[in-house]
Amino acid sequence: MYTEKVMDHFAHPRNMGEVEGANGVGMVGNAKCGDIMQMFLKVNDDGIIEDVGFKTFGCGAAVATSSMATELIKGKSIDEALKLTNSAVVEALEGLPPAKLHCSVLAEEAVRAAIDNYYARKEGKAEECNTVTTGHEEEKPAED
Ligand code: FES
Repeated sequence: MYTEKVMDHFAHPRNMGEVEGANGVGMVGNAKCGDIMQMFLKVNDDGIIEDVGFKTFGCGAAVATSSMATELIKGKSIDEALKLTNSAVVEALEGLPPAKLHCSVLAEEAVRAAIDNYYARKEGKAEECNTVTTGHEEEKPAED
């Protein structure tokens, strides 16, 4: 069901944990499954992500996708990291079962949330962490 890459990143997550001196922190929670992912970025003056870490309270696929997402953005510029899509994460993991694709979306959103926080801090709107909730139930169409 899971590729070897997914199992490897699940069993040996890369860049797990908080990053000391992080200047961009984002947390995304999926309202449907209840999983939470937190992403820490340390961006240098040249806009390069020098260090990155994550904490995920969620399913195995969420751990594997956050681990892979950190690998894909480490050492990259903020602009490159903003282009990270969930499909790029899935591709790097050599696939995910369809029912687990939303876990990769959480990874993409956690990176975005951390980058938003980095910019907010730069503008002096100092929040310690940008917290976002996604995956709300679809609004039911109004009955008439
Ligand atoms: Fe919720 Fe995987 S089941 S992130």
